[in-house]
Amino acid sequence: MTDLASIEPMLKVETLGLRFRNPLILAAGILGLTAPILKRVIESGAGGVVTKSIGLKPRKGHPNPTVVDLGFGLLNSMGLPNPGLEEFMKELETLRGLEAPIILSIYAFSEDELVEIGRIVSDFNVVSAVELNVSCPHVDGISEIAKNPVLVESYVQTLKRHLDKPVIVKLSPNVSDIVRIAEAAVDGGADALTAINTVRAMSIDIEVGRPVLAGIFGGLSGPAIRPIAVRCVYEITESLNVPVFGCGGIETAHDVIEFLMAGATAVQLGSVIARGGLRVFKRILKGLRDFLEERGYSSIDEVRGLAHRR
Ligand code: DHB
Repeated sequence: MTDLASIEPMLKVETLGLRFRNPLILAAGILGLTAPILKRVIESGAGGVVTKSIGLKPRKGHPNPTVVDLGFGLLNSMGLPNPGLEEFMKELETLRGLEAPIILSIYAFSEDELVEIGRIVSDFNVVSAVELNVSCPHVDGISEIAKNPVLVESYVQTLKRHLDKPVIVKLSPNVSDIVRIAEAAVDGGADALTAINTVRAMSIDIEVGRPVLAGIFGGLSGPAIRPIAVRCVYEITESLNVPVFGCGGIETAHDVIEFLMAGATAVQLGSVIARGGLRVFKRILKGLRDFLEERGYSSIDEVRGLAHRR
């Protein structure tokens, strides 16, 4: 078994006033709905976790089928199912005192909802930061936000006014200029960004001549979207001085290094866990250590942003 303690000095990430023991963070929407599973994710080696996206009120989500494995990635349209904020906070309460930061992913259909969420979460110190999901690509009322810089700035500003914690804004790749949206988030007061959420996509069952997903459209994740995510991280960090969490199709230590070199502060893992289980954390951490040692780097800080050199 990999001795995580001996690796961690090379891999630690300090950002947003938080200490992540390594750069591998559980992405929103994967396993993040119950406290025992989040605890297992942290015990498996995650440097931090992002929960499933939670709204003010409970939501059932879309009817099945909601997920299809395309081989090169997952296409999903869960429809933001969740128990609602109050209920979910009771669940998270049992995680008090864990050594990895817990980031609460939230979504809201209006700025009034954001005000209420901000007030409720401010007093809840189990949560270290909030990731604002403005970019779910297939839920009406959410997917429009991430495309509109005026709305993004206003949403972030409203949340920041009512929430006493770092705010990370998760951006959509389904826009023509992601840097413009990233700037709007930063102008609104975002402390960090996550790039990227899933790519709006669809798949058709040719036997029946109908869309595979009951919701017709879904979000594509997994290795197919990785080069899009790397490009987005690079473009944003080329223009803006803001911490960016890279997210999209990361499967190996090689992929993590690629995102760090593109300028990511840390990365988030999603589909790879759905496919490979929780053992991926230790496999990737060991790969990161081997990469750094073989090339004589003393920490991941030395590779961050390297691809921006001229
Ligand atoms: C869901 C939300 C997302 O932000 C996403 O990228 C994919 C799916 C959802 O719950 O439907």
